[in-house]
Amino acid sequence: MVPAQIVIFGATGDLTARKLIPALVDIARLGLVRFPVQVLGVGRRAITTEQWQVELEKFLSPEQRSIWPELAPNMHYIDIGESTSADFAALKTKMDDLAGPFINTVGRLYYLALKPSLFLPTVDQLAEHGMLASDELRIEGWRRVVVEKPFGTDLPSAQWLNIGLRKHLRENQLYRIDHYLGKETVQNILAFRFENAIFEPIWTREHIEHVEISVCEQVGMESGRGGYYETAGALRDMVQNHLMQLLCLVAMEAPIGLDADAVRAEKIKVLRALEPYRDPKDVWDNVVRAQYGAGDQSQRGYLDEDGVAKASQTETYVAIRARIHNWRWNGVPFLLRSGKQLAKRYTDITLHFRKPPADLFAGPGGIARGLKPNGLTFRIQPDEGIRIKFLVKQPGHGHVLREASLGFDYRALFTSDSPPPYQRLLLDAINGNATLFIHGDETEAAWRFADSIRSGWSAPGAPACWRYPAGSMGPVEADALLRGTDGGSWGQGD
Ligand code: BG6
Repeated sequence: MVPAQIVIFGATGDLTARKLIPALVDIARLGLVRFPVQVLGVGRRAITTEQWQVELEKFLSPEQRSIWPELAPNMHYIDIGESTSADFAALKTKMDDLAGPFINTVGRLYYLALKPSLFLPTVDQLAEHGMLASDELRIEGWRRVVVEKPFGTDLPSAQWLNIGLRKHLRENQLYRIDHYLGKETVQNILAFRFENAIFEPIWTREHIEHVEISVCEQVGMESGRGGYYETAGALRDMVQNHLMQLLCLVAMEAPIGLDADAVRAEKIKVLRALEPYRDPKDVWDNVVRAQYGAGDQSQRGYLDEDGVAKASQTETYVAIRARIHNWRWNGVPFLLRSGKQLAKRYTDITLHFRKPPADLFAGPGGIARGLKPNGLTFRIQPDEGIRIKFLVKQPGHGHVLREASLGFDYRALFTSDSPPPYQRLLLDAINGNATLFIHGDETEAAWRFADSIRSGWSAPGAPACWRYPAGSMGPVEADALLRGTDGGSWGQGD
């Protein structure tokens, strides 16, 4: 049977050992592909295939180890030293040798688990050596490239990257990864919205008062991430990609199908309708950035983390009041926030519905005031589920109301664990399904929005980065963004 080859650049890195190889082992263990898969790790360290395999094995679970002896003969390593033309020629020879009689039909997936500055030089070399040529209309002999994040650092750099990649590859050969799209609960947003007819009619500005998307993390700068994070900050690291993708799924129109073109066309429309901020004042009024200081559980402040500049203004938290200018959403605030070193780890998307037009229970004996109107929450992680909140009358003689909820809990209904994101995404890339990958136009539109925030932050008179104690739920200044909404406060992840 015709094999597929997965060529991983950055083979000795963390991502390869922790995510990619375990995912590939599971794909084989669970019999998810029907053709043989050969893996070729490409790195700059002078190690042998055997040494590479020993390193990889350490990261496998006992179940994964049980089939490792069977898989290991298909895992090869090649050191491409300084990445010269001769090194790439040797890589091509190695790949062709491995393909053996299938040299003309083997499908090849190049996974760029590299630092972004190496994306284009690598793709240029692959093209120069004829390693990307393919005819996507043919089932066999396909060539695809997976690109890890970050995809650029602003709009010009993302455009430059897109132009560079498209010099050698068509859009349908490019798989820009965002691991949030590989999460089962994120994919379920589409199923919930478009396979249940009762919700879609109220998914509009007439019924929804505001939408909240919170991605709260407890982690800080573990595993020496400070150096990288200094070049990113929460806006680039989380908002431009993960939060934008969540926003797309909750705000998009129904696609005409589930194929990549149909789904991504709708996401692109949302991102293009997302209004960039007009001027610095607009940013200062609608965006709050902050950095964590020391916490009372002896957590270090950001400025004391390794690799962080002593006077760094890098934001580890950002909260945004965004607007989507289209028929469905005009006038509905989208409140987004993400931060590190927060009290709780959870990712929620909540649609807050409008109050009833007349408040019958507000008179004597009623305490409807202060209770939150209806809400629909997707809990993406950690305890995945969906919950609808509503008010009920408390038993008794008065008109006293209280909040109640209906909930669906993934773990209670489905006994098996959801596949990890990288398993799903790698499998899709091997099978040529790009629905859960990002189109180049999406990244550019998301950068246009993020860049408008950055330009407000760098304008004269911009407020400094606020502080919040590690282990809290972020700066109090972020509460101001909710002023005027019915809910009045950020969710608590409860
Ligand atoms: C990564 C960011 O893309 O996503 C990290 O670079 C962040 O800073 C991580 O911690 C969060 O992913 P998850 O799946 O743990 O929510």
